[in-house]
Amino acid sequence: DENGDEMTRSILVTGGAGYVGSHTVAALLQRQQEHQDFDIVVVDDLTNAVREPGQKKPEALRIIEELTKKTIHFYEVDIRDAAGLSRIFESHSIECVIHFAALKAVGESVQKPLEYYQANISGTCTLFDVMRKYGVYKLVYSSSCTVYGEPEYLPLNEGHPTGKGLTSPYGKSKYFCEEIMKDICRSDTKWMIISLRYFNPVGAHRSGRIGEDPAGIPNNLMPFIAQVAVGRLNELQVFGNDYNTVDGTGVRDYIHVEDLAEGHVKAVKLFSQPGFSGFHAVNLGTGTGYSVLQMIAAFEAASGRKIPYKIVARRAGDIAANYADVSLSHRLLGWRATRTLDDMCRDTWRWQSNNPNGFKRS
Ligand code: NAD
Ligand code: WQD
Repeated sequence: DENGDEMTRSILVTGGAGYVGSHTVAALLQRQQEHQDFDIVVVDDLTNAVREPGQKKPEALRIIEELTKKTIHFYEVDIRDAAGLSRIFESHSIECVIHFAALKAVGESVQKPLEYYQANISGTCTLFDVMRKYGVYKLVYSSSCTVYGEPEYLPLNEGHPTGKGLTSPYGKSKYFCEEIMKDICRSDTKWMIISLRYFNPVGAHRSGRIGEDPAGIPNNLMPFIAQVAVGRLNELQVFGNDYNTVDGTGVRDYIHVEDLAEGHVKAVKLFSQPGFSGFHAVNLGTGTGYSVLQMIAAFEAASGRKIPYKIVARRAGDIAANYADVSLSHRLLGWRATRTLDDMCRDTWRWQSNNPNGFKRS
């Protein structure tokens, strides 16, 4: 660094310009005083993040810098580019890595399996190889409840079998990456890996200035509802009302993205706990499931807008219900989701109504 002294210790955040990554960057900079001694370094190739013409940094990071008055180091690099990653490890003293970068559209992954395996698996292996080269062995990984497949019982605890009957390359890529991480932890006890299995992240930063900004028609329920509410889309299609659930529609464990972000901050803190090592998978959810119709009603109440919908056929690959057993996250991370369904809807609506077109201007 410029003083010739020890470089400031840094946290490398891959995919940090995206939805969950940007909220985690905000939480690392804003919430936890004890992490102010870390610089934040983001690597993102902008495949799913917006940068305005003439700007150096993607919108989400530019806005977080404005909100926190702190600097984020940004590199437009693909995680499959080992040389590009190495340059970042040369320029910063990386203490640990939070790895969000991935392609995540379930349906698209069925059409483009190679692209998904290249980004999510090759990219992850390249990252791990560069980490090892620079002696960095601490990793927080973005996994998914999708690794559990069709639930054999509920709530889903971390001991539930994984990898069975997965239907999409996306879901398999998350499962395969977990298996790779288990193997590298077995091969070398220096590794410390926390694989956070997210349930359904929704909501937005309380400022209303950053949030989820899907390109094209949203695949996921909450952004679809929000775009209907704001008038960008006409009507929601509810995928099936003949499931064995409270009202026949699919039930999921929706979790506020700010709670999720704080879970990552807690995970990073675990690395400094004496004796911590190896691979740990941890659910991040609330433990409570809501149906599609309950989500519609909650969003109507929070936004004051009507959400027109019609019931259509089930979506291929969907399960009836899932929700998390959250006891391990509480025991291991000392973390628990605190935000309610109303908070999730209110914060989504603040973001969507302030930014009807997301980060894209016009
Ligand atoms: P996102 O698309 O908003 O963020 C991912 C970011 O990674 C994007 O900014 C994208 O540009 C970047 N990226 C993609 N490929 C890259 C590459 N090869 N090199 C560098 N950067 C690359 O998605 P998100 O919702 O924030 O998801 C973050 C992580 O969490 C992903 O790994 C995803 O699989 C996982 N996850 C998401 C959900 C969810 O519903 N949002 C649920 C479970 C797990
Ligand atoms: C939620 C519910 C739909 C859209 C996906 C991935 C999973 C994880 C989270 C990354 C379901 C219903 C949806 C719509 C609807 N991502 N729905 N109309 O499918 O639980 O999980 O995101 O790891 O891997 O599969 O989330 O938001 O798509 O759906 O009725 O237009 O809403 O059927 O019951 P899902 P979702």
